[in-house]
Amino acid sequence: MKGALDLEKLPKHLAIIMDGNGRWAAEKGKNRLFGHKNGIQSVRAIVEESARLGIQHLTLYAFSTENWQRPKEEIGTLMRLLVQSLRSEFEKLLENNIKLQAIGQIETLPRSVQNELLHVINKTAINTNMTLTLALSYGAREEIVSATKKLSELVKNNLISPDDIDESALNEHLYTQQLPDVDLLIRTSGEQRISNFLLWQIAYAELYFTDVFWPDFREKSLHSALLNYQQRERRFGKTSAQINA
Ligand code: IPE
Ligand code: IPE
Ligand code: MG
Repeated sequence: MKGALDLEKLPKHLAIIMDGNGRWAAEKGKNRLFGHKNGIQSVRAIVEESARLGIQHLTLYAFSTENWQRPKEEIGTLMRLLVQSLRSEFEKLLENNIKLQAIGQIETLPRSVQNELLHVINKTAINTNMTLTLALSYGAREEIVSATKKLSELVKNNLISPDDIDESALNEHLYTQQLPDVDLLIRTSGEQRISNFLLWQIAYAELYFTDVFWPDFREKSLHSALLNYQQRERRFGKTSAQINA
């Protein structure tokens, strides 16, 4: 399997909806916390393998705007695990020359999370091997609304005219402004939906759904997804003949 991967044809931007921690734990008769803890092992494995292969941008959906509706205790647990992982993984990020970023309503996260995030973001800002973007309190609709507000302010203050609003102008006001469009979007756990993730940025992404629960999604599963991606023909509206010319 691994040998067949073409390292010249990797997605430039890989995005993952990490789903199924709770169901993975339930299958083992354990609580959801156990699932989330094991999910962190997968995050570590996938981040390291993506960097090793040479993927330039990896974006992980870790907490959605809708996830605030979960029970208070689960939210608390997730936030605590987030702080712990940022602390424990910090050295690895430095070692692997990975730059951390965060997208979403970061100001709505607990102070402890914000502080730890900012610390790691600052310390890894000059790293160049791979950009790791964590989507936290992220919702694509909120992102598009907030970009629209920013553009409206610019128009109101006569800094731009309505005619200046085009796709690239909107793109520049999204949280992901520094990132290229998503090439491959993976969702684990068998659910086949987007759940308000990167709606704008996945306009032409290849979608890959797997039944594997996130805590079981490790290097091998990533290779399978990448191999599948490499067998697809991305036409972007053109014909197959045009692409192969
Ligand atoms: C993904 O696993 C983690 C987060 C959304 C934070 P879930 O917690 O959604 O697990 P399931 O989908 O209930 O199994
Ligand atoms: C999507 O997973 C959000 C994250 C992975 C962070 P959910 O488990 O919250 O999605 P839905 O609600 O089942 O669609
Ligand atoms: Mg879920």
